[in-house]
Parts: sequence; structure tokens; C-alpha cells
Amino acid sequence: MTLAGFDASQAAEIEALFVTTFSHSEGPAEGEVVGRLVRHLMVDTDPRDVLGFVAMEKGRVVAGIFFSRLTFDAPVEAFLLSPVGVRPDHQGRGIGQRLIRFGLERLKERGVTRVFTYGDPAFYSRVGFTPVAESRVSAPFRLSQPEGWLGQGLNGHEMTVLAGVPCCVTAFGDPAYW
Ligand SMILES: CC(C)(COP(=O)(O)OP(=O)(O)OC[C@H]1O[C@@H](n2cnc3c(N)ncnc32)[C@H](O)[C@@H]1OP(=O)(O)O)[C@@H](O)C(=O)NCCC(=O)NCCS
Repeated sequence: MTLAGFDASQAAEIEALFVTTFSHSEGPAEGEVVGRLVRHLMVDTDPRDVLGFVAMEKGRVVAGIFFSRLTFDAPVEAFLLSPVGVRPDHQGRGIGQRLIRFGLERLKERGVTRVFTYGDPAFYSRVGFTPVAESRVSAPFRLSQPEGWLGQGLNGHEMTVLAGVPCCVTAFGDPAYW
């Protein structure tokens, strides 16, 4: 398997991967929502504000992950991990965790110091995330499940208090995602 930054020529295949993966886990409506989100990240987002990576096997994309910028009042390099998906027939083989770690390494190389995500603490704790109280670091929108707000410091940084409400990229601008 090879892990690499995504290429624009793979956009349709990556979108289809996310539609398939989330339709399988959460139903077709969610599959379409996440497919649209990923297309928005790949096509309509400033490339300086988004990083995407894929896992390839036999010339096929079997997993994908995106990180997009979170802008705080303070001059801090922060990104949001979302979404990540592994083809249903490839899940449970360590690919998801490997791809997340690969992405975090690439973020570190770019000087990113904080990464956040919104998901299941039981899974993301395996790759270094811990719960973040919203009183310490707010999410861009009101969270329906505050216990899912997670983060980690990179490059030796601690998860310190960050004031204000961060801005996310417009792809995540729908409160329904949160
Ligand atoms: C979540 C996902 C990315 C994990 O990728 P993966 O390659 O299947 O995971 P790995 O093989 O690296 O790790 C598997 C372990 O994580 C656990 N795990 C997987 N999804 C989990 C979840 N949502 N909550 C808690 N644990 C989870 C598995 O039970 C397994 O545990 P085990 O090692 O004790 O058996 C993948 O299952 C997926 O695409 N799921 C559907 C989409 C999704 O929910 N994405 C995440 C939200 S954006």
C-alpha cells in the first residue's frame, strides 16, 4: 500500500470512496452529504487551507483523509481532521490509523501545532487525540455532541487555551455538520 497526497485527477474516485464508505456506515443520505463535503474541500477550497491524503492499493484509492484550516484570533497553525474514510472491504486492517498518523506527520512538517477533530474518542484516542473542553478551545459552531471535540498538540506544543471562536473553511460552514 502507498500513502500520498491526493492528486486533483483523483477527485471523482475520492468522492466516490467517501459516498460508498459513509453510505455503508451511516446510510445513503449521509454518504451523499460527506461526498459533497469532500468535493467542496477538493474543488472549492484554497489549497493553502486543505491537505488531503490517500491510501492506494493496486492502483485504486482505498482510503482518504482531509485536514482543513481552523483560524483562531491568535497566530496559531491549526487544522481540523475530517473526514477520514476507509473502503468498507478494507476496514479493520490498520489502514485508518496509518493514514491518520501519516497525515499528522505531514502537518508537523508544515509547522502545524494544533489539530482538532470531532468524532468518537474511543477511536481517535488511538492516534493521540484527547478530549478538549469547549471552555478551553471553542469549536467553530455549537456542538451537538461536545464529548466528541478532540485535539492534540503537535511539534512539542501542549493543547493550551485558545481564545475566541475559530473560523473553519466554508466547506464546514453548515451548522448541521457540528
Ligand atoms: C473509522 C475508520 C476510518 C477506521 O479505519 P479502519 O482502517 O477501519 O481502522 P483501523 O483498522 O486502523 O482500526 C480498527 C480499530 O478501530 C476501531 N474502530 C473503528 N471505527 C471505530 C469507531 N467509529 N469507534 C470506535 N472504534 C472504532 C475498530 O473497532 C478496531 O478496533 P480493534 O483494533 O480493537 O479491533 C473506518 O472504519 C471508516 O471509514 N468508517 C466509516 C466512516 C467513519 O466513521 N469515519 C470516521 C468519522 S469521520
